[in-house]
Amino acid sequence: MTTAVAEHWASGDVYGRIVTALHAAGKSLDALTIEDLAPVDHFHARGLPATIELGDSLPAKAGDHLLDVGCGLGGPARYFARRFGCRVSGIDVTGPFIDAGRRLTELLGMGAVVDLRQGDGQALPYGDGTFDGGYAQHVTMNVPDRPSFFGEAWRVIRPGGFFAITEHGRGNAGPTYHPVPWSEDGRGEFLVTPEETVELLGAAGFVDIDVTDTGQDDLQRYRATLALAERGELPALGLHVLMGPGAAEKWRNSARNIEEGRTHPVRVICRKPG
Ligand SMILES: C[S@@+](CC[C@H](N)C(=O)[O-])C[C@H]1O[C@@H](n2cnc3c(N)ncnc32)[C@H](O)[C@@H]1O
Repeated sequence: MTTAVAEHWASGDVYGRIVTALHAAGKSLDALTIEDLAPVDHFHARGLPATIELGDSLPAKAGDHLLDVGCGLGGPARYFARRFGCRVSGIDVTGPFIDAGRRLTELLGMGAVVDLRQGDGQALPYGDGTFDGGYAQHVTMNVPDRPSFFGEAWRVIRPGGFFAITEHGRGNAGPTYHPVPWSEDGRGEFLVTPEETVELLGAAGFVDIDVTDTGQDDLQRYRATLALAERGELPALGLHVLMGPGAAEKWRNSARNIEEGRTHPVRVICRKPG
């Protein structure tokens, strides 16, 4: 199952495609910044603004060691490492993302504070209580075994540490339209309602579970990006570099799913009792 998920997200030379897009955008690899990369390496609804918003809600502090489950290219990991002055370990099933993410981390000179490796959030290769906190941004839509995924996060986070997710939860108005960014046709999609997510996090042992509806903000961003795509005005650097020619249809369906209540996007923050 994780092989199919990885194949869905990326194949081939992701790093090469990003470098080509950076050149087209007039960015120099010698003087690259976290902000330069943000249009392509925050791979979730609303990109960097959503990562900033997530950071505003996290009780992270300097010197912490954080875990990013489903880290993708590592944009959020690098942003949080700089913002909080902490270390971040990222893990993702998709090899081409990890390869590109490592090279981008080196380009930014952040290899000492951000490490990325390939692996599955349902079976984490870290010891108990390793991390001060963890998060998974737009990952759980592809996770068939949430008890293992949340249980593994609980195990590797220290007592008193935090855990956060952002996701497209299942809405109550019927099945999702496809394709969407996380699935071409429904295969590899495992959405649950926000209520079920809260139950599952509680069953894993997390407490103080706080849910924020992000649907309207996400919807506005999808509409704005879609409008650019329909006018042929997408910038050289953006998520379409990763998603390919089907990007506009996926954004259109993501917007329709939210509008019609078929998905229910949320940010969820909770804590392991200390
Ligand atoms: C929408 S991307 C988000 C990437 C990153 N979190 C970000 O916000 O930029 C979803 C990512 O989840 C990863 N993923 C899906 N299932 C996973 C699992 N079981 N374990 C680790 N990563 C997973 C995919 O490979 C993909 O990179």
